[in-house]
Amino acid sequence: MERRDLRVCFVGDSYVAGVGDETGLGWVGRVVAAAGRADELGVELTAYNLGIRRDTSVDVARRAAAECGPRLRPAQDARVVVAVGVNDTVLEDGRPRTTPAETRAALRRLHDEVRSAVPGAALLVVGPPAVDDDAHVARLHERERALSDEAAALGVPFVGCLTTTEHDEVWRAAVRAGDGFHPRSAGYERLAAILTDPVLTWLTTPTDPAVAPASAARGGRAEGVRVVGMTGEHGDDVVRIYGEGIATGDATFESRTPTWPELDAKWLPAHRLVAVADGRVLGWAAATPTSTRAVYRGVVELSLYVAQEARGRGVGTALMRAFLESAEAGEVWTVQSGVFPENAGSLALHAAAGFRVIGSRERVGLMTHGPHAGRWRDVVLLERRAP
Ligand SMILES: CC(C)(COP(=O)(O)OP(=O)(O)OC[C@H]1O[C@@H](n2cnc3c(N)ncnc32)[C@H](O)[C@@H]1OP(=O)(O)O)[C@@H](O)C(=O)NCCC(=O)NCCS
Repeated sequence: MERRDLRVCFVGDSYVAGVGDETGLGWVGRVVAAAGRADELGVELTAYNLGIRRDTSVDVARRAAAECGPRLRPAQDARVVVAVGVNDTVLEDGRPRTTPAETRAALRRLHDEVRSAVPGAALLVVGPPAVDDDAHVARLHERERALSDEAAALGVPFVGCLTTTEHDEVWRAAVRAGDGFHPRSAGYERLAAILTDPVLTWLTTPTDPAVAPASAARGGRAEGVRVVGMTGEHGDDVVRIYGEGIATGDATFESRTPTWPELDAKWLPAHRLVAVADGRVLGWAAATPTSTRAVYRGVVELSLYVAQEARGRGVGTALMRAFLESAEAGEVWTVQSGVFPENAGSLALHAAAGFRVIGSRERVGLMTHGPHAGRWRDVVLLERRAP
């Protein structure tokens, strides 16, 4: 059986980086090693450690989308583990480096920006461990609550380790033997023992409809099809499928197939998706802004094309669903499409996704190719407002 391409970024602070661990593994390295041993996961796991010393939640939120985006976009199943909190609560000039409200806002920003850069990416929040200072631990409890409350508000799972590490003699002794913050390897061993089960359980559970097999929603019609972010690697397939659409004579007035650089330059980076199965690209969805005016920044025009070999079995529907989810997460409030009245498949696809017909633009353009060449053709204008 083909193994699922699962990629995970661990973003956070020095605990994520494993500072103080003489084995170099930290808790992240141990969890990833446990995942590698667990054959039943049925996944091809790629893990990235993006921990930076001294980073607060605000620092991590600032860089997460830029760092996770290129690492996760090719994945069938993209995951981000966020682990922050100790640096937020370190005192500087007598005050914690960030407030609980700032931590919550940072988590929300990170969530929104990562999901806009990697549509369908799933997040898990890991709370901070205890340090060797009771006043600091008290501040950590408050911060753990802020993180878990915000995670709940975002619909993201949260795993805490503060109370367990606070009362764990091995952890506390290892932190004391270290620098008062970071434990030696025995401490990371304990932290990994606490976190491995919940993290692996989450990794093995499909959490987002946009990355789950489309067949789940299509009653099996699009068996094995997954929708993932489009990258330059997909460029040749995207252009080929565009060409197949032009060849129908009912997809677009365009008669020349654009090149990948042309498409890359005009499409919004945040909302480009491909449907793949067995390593083959079966279709794509992308959007252009309808206007350069700021007031219309949330209004986009959709293009959606399915490879000839894959039409009529739910691929378009899976792409449409994932595109609308990405658009809504990215503050797009209106998606519009122009469709030839003869394109029954496209009209059915749009109707099923909740688009309404604004009207028909009669004889609006001269067709230059295909069976309707030489005819001035109508275009049906459809739009869908975000709920
Ligand atoms: C239009 C297109 C995107 C649809 O993709 P698809 O993968 O075939 O669509 P799906 O299999 O998900 O079917 C979507 C709906 O359309 C219906 N449908 C699909 N092809 C149809 C056809 N030729 N005639 C009538 N209905 C059709 C399906 O029954 C389904 O309806 P349902 O949800 O009620 O069952 C695809 O045919 C295509 O890429 N065509 C060439 C490019 C193009 O025209 N793009 C659109 C430009 S506006």
